[in-house]
Amino acid sequence: MCGIVGILGKGPVAGALLEALKRLEYRGYDSAGIATLAEDGTALKRCRAEGKLANLEAALAKDPLPGRTGIGHTRWATHGAPSERNAHPHMSGPVSVVHNGIIENFSELRSALAAEGVAFESDTDTEVVAHLIARELARTESPTEAMRRALAHLKGAFALAVIFAGHEDLMIGVRNGPPLAIGHGEGEMYLGSDAIALAPFTNRITFLEDGDWAVLTRERVQIFDRSHRAVTRPLTRTTAAAHLVDKGNHRHFMAKEIHEQPEVIGHTLARYVDFGAKRVAFPDLGLDLARIRRVTISACGTAYYAGLVGKYWLERWAGLAVDIDIASEFRYREAPLEPGGLALFVSQSGETADTLAALHYARAQSQQIAAIVNVTESTIARAADCVLPTLAGPEIGVASTKAFTCQLAVLAALAIAAGKARGRIDEAQEQALVGALGEVPRHISSLLADESPYEAIAHDLAKASDVLYLGRGINYPIALEGALKLKELSYIHAEGYAAGELKHGPIALIEENLPIIVVAPGDALFEKTFANMQEVAARGGRIVLLSDRAPGELADAVAHHIAMPELLPFTIPLVYALPVQLLAYHTAVFMGTDVDQPRNLAKSVTVE
Ligand code: G6P
Repeated sequence: MCGIVGILGKGPVAGALLEALKRLEYRGYDSAGIATLAEDGTALKRCRAEGKLANLEAALAKDPLPGRTGIGHTRWATHGAPSERNAHPHMSGPVSVVHNGIIENFSELRSALAAEGVAFESDTDTEVVAHLIARELARTESPTEAMRRALAHLKGAFALAVIFAGHEDLMIGVRNGPPLAIGHGEGEMYLGSDAIALAPFTNRITFLEDGDWAVLTRERVQIFDRSHRAVTRPLTRTTAAAHLVDKGNHRHFMAKEIHEQPEVIGHTLARYVDFGAKRVAFPDLGLDLARIRRVTISACGTAYYAGLVGKYWLERWAGLAVDIDIASEFRYREAPLEPGGLALFVSQSGETADTLAALHYARAQSQQIAAIVNVTESTIARAADCVLPTLAGPEIGVASTKAFTCQLAVLAALAIAAGKARGRIDEAQEQALVGALGEVPRHISSLLADESPYEAIAHDLAKASDVLYLGRGINYPIALEGALKLKELSYIHAEGYAAGELKHGPIALIEENLPIIVVAPGDALFEKTFANMQEVAARGGRIVLLSDRAPGELADAVAHHIAMPELLPFTIPLVYALPVQLLAYHTAVFMGTDVDQPRNLAKSVTVE
């Protein structure tokens, strides 16, 4: 989603703004721009370009922007097409603004401003913010007062960074929903959508709380809350700076992140289990796992599929009743939730707007709130009673991979801990389950040692216009995730189906041009899924089989077989996530799509 950066620097800032924007690329965007205060801070200059940052870089090379004060933005279009004229920063007289989120009452504001004679040059909701601030500035002559007055008119979820011609040592940041962080430098001050953007400049960060706005100079920060009371917020040292956000020896961030999985899954598991003693070592987070009456899981996208695997685990191993829904549905469903329930939210970024809204709903229904997040400083983490971090490190590829398997790792440990607390798992079972989890990183490493089978299958998939993924039981969410990954990355239409539903519709699609990827480990349901494969084979369908079992009598119908290791059923989803990721990745590479930033997608969806 849109990325914001702002710098009050000692020297020219355009280059540093561009570098910071590159670090925000992973959020997804379709145009970008920078504005600076030139001529001793008296003149606003800007440069914008449609498409990738390389276009902005080229435009800046032709027409450099001088100035020590500036703001930059990567835009993910919501109001108005992705074009240069809609790209941020937007300007009005002496005011320039960059914005992330949505101004909900923008059409009313736009009509009111137009009636006052304001001419608009873009289709964006952001431009009304620039005009509103400029109007108030003309009335008060104080940028801070103008900002305070303008904020009173704005409805929605938004983060802003604003600079003012004639005020060279001033920048104002607003956080009303989407996150915004202040970076403290030596005689310099920064604003950024996250700490990753600011990592090259500083690791001394203040995260604004929801509703806060901040007045920055090079030496000082004043923060006000929603009611304009002066507040202090803690200055933290983040670890984001410590992570080298580069691709290493890999062609794409996604490849790097897929390959990091053995390490980060191991790292995450080690937080929740004691491998030596083969026991769960779930931290005491105030969760009374023995007494919880019902669990309600809510999440979006890939995180939702992790939650779905969690449902199977918690029901099977802990005997817990689990409800799950996509956050955008759950938030409006008006589901009655009995007090005493646990509401569990799964989110890589911890900023997804629908997941956060679902959390607020659960809070209002007196649920205990737990969050599985990758970003522990995130809004969802801070709104939860109990945080279960995934230790995946920054995930840059827009399509989630290592965050997904780390979410599974936490859910697996949670299921064992809950099973134990509820007397459903004895010590021997606990040892077997934890022991099996300990083997997951090794299994994934050995699968990663040879990617050539996936390349061969990718050549076949690339010719298809539709692909069907089938899975049964706990493999069903993996089929769904496989289909999502393929469509996100390669733009090939793909559907995940519960294998048992084949006869209720998708069987009508089967013909030789429809590859069918079957996630069929040799678990208790293998025979059932095998019967579905026979139905596919009988209709001339071509199967890609992911299994530790050989295709046997279906050898003719199985065009490709990825031979998987034999696994304890409990760990199957963690290991089978790998082949579906690799199939999508290699198909996308073969087709030449933008693997790390697929078209139209955003990493962190901070609007509804
Ligand atoms: C976007 C991303 C997905 C992610 C989903 C949920 O759609 O492209 O990869 O699964 O948001 O994001 P979250 O940060 O809440 O896990």
